[in-house]
Amino acid sequence: MPRIAVIPGDGIGVEVVREARRVLAALEDANELGFELVDWDLGAERYLRDGVAITDEEFRALADDHDAVFLGALGDPRVPGMEHIKEILLGLRFKLDLYVNFRPCVLPLARLSPLVTIQEPFRIDMFRENTEGLYTGLGGSFKTGTSDEIVIEKDLHTRKGVERIIRAAFEYAQSQGRGRVTLVDKANVQRFVGSLWRRVFEEVGGAYPGISQDAMYVDAMVMDLVRRPECYEVLVTSNLFGDIISDLAAEVTGGLGLAPSANIHPGRYALFEPVHGSAPDIAGQGVANPIGAIRCVSLMLEYFGHQQLGERIEAGVLASIEDGTTTPDLGGESSTEEVGSWIASYVGSEST
Ligand code: NAD
Ligand code: IPM
Ligand code: MN
Repeated sequence: MPRIAVIPGDGIGVEVVREARRVLAALEDANELGFELVDWDLGAERYLRDGVAITDEEFRALADDHDAVFLGALGDPRVPGMEHIKEILLGLRFKLDLYVNFRPCVLPLARLSPLVTIQEPFRIDMFRENTEGLYTGLGGSFKTGTSDEIVIEKDLHTRKGVERIIRAAFEYAQSQGRGRVTLVDKANVQRFVGSLWRRVFEEVGGAYPGISQDAMYVDAMVMDLVRRPECYEVLVTSNLFGDIISDLAAEVTGGLGLAPSANIHPGRYALFEPVHGSAPDIAGQGVANPIGAIRCVSLMLEYFGHQQLGERIEAGVLASIEDGTTTPDLGGESSTEEVGSWIASYVGSEST
């Protein structure tokens, strides 16, 4: 019986997680899945109140007494230094070694994206390295605040880290019958980092002769993702490039509000969260699109072996859009709750 720590977090995180729970509850009613959800009050409020984002004890309890975390979003203008994001979200990614950041960008309906000219739906599966790169915080500043200030922020890549994310991308492509894996880097400038990623990509890719493999510079990639996104299948890249590309890939596949993600250490632990943030500009208005969070339920169900129920949620998402029950970001007039309720009643209407 999976035990899930639910952290709604800040801003629209709270609003979209409510709807994700509604959808999971509808499936629970029809299928007796036995997920145990445990509420965790972590976020900006708690940080501002107690001066601590998460204690060591809480961290241990999250890691040891739960099988996964379901997170809404973190981020609050009252915490400009993002201390609680670093401690909670990056803390979980690093300390639990959740090295795969899987971000499937699925365009369910071609007409949803004004950027896409083809008529067929398509998907781009992003594998973002999640524990290294420019996210380690290694570095420092010298003569801070003076006109001679010097800062260094290290871009750290290990052979082990590079190899395991590339292998995860190929394994996924193979298991899903995808025909192409593309490495995204900046090897024309980053000589050492680029060389490591390209050598390992070729080496690991050698074991997957049936899959077409190529590498692209990140600047050309973002251009091409706007020009012809449907040509790409599986992307694998480093932490920062993955962060940047995933918002773009989400947008060209219907919108940032639609995109889910899973941070995984295979076989050990997972953290599910929509790709979007806490969106302070629309928080509290009841207009946030809950689909990214609802699709996280789908990823979570698949992770725990309920493939068909995950697909049922995807079908519910598509049906809600076709029905015109959408939030304003997709051109509709429905509220967050109306979209969540619509999808919940769709998935609960029939047991699978
Ligand atoms: P954001 O993703 O919160 O918002 C970017 C834009 O997209 C905004 O205009 C917002 O209104 C819109 N948007 C995002 N999600 C939406 C949804 N579900 N429905 C409709 N519109 C949506 O990015 P930001 O404004 O740069 O960041 C806000 C805060 O969130 C920052 O503190 C940032 O650090 C944090 N953040 C957290 C996470 C996370 O917790 N996983 C991810 C990204 C950003
Ligand atoms: C994401 C977010 C995070 C990241 C921030 C909030 C630290 O943008 O999950 O995409 O950069 O990884
Ligand atoms: Mn991001």
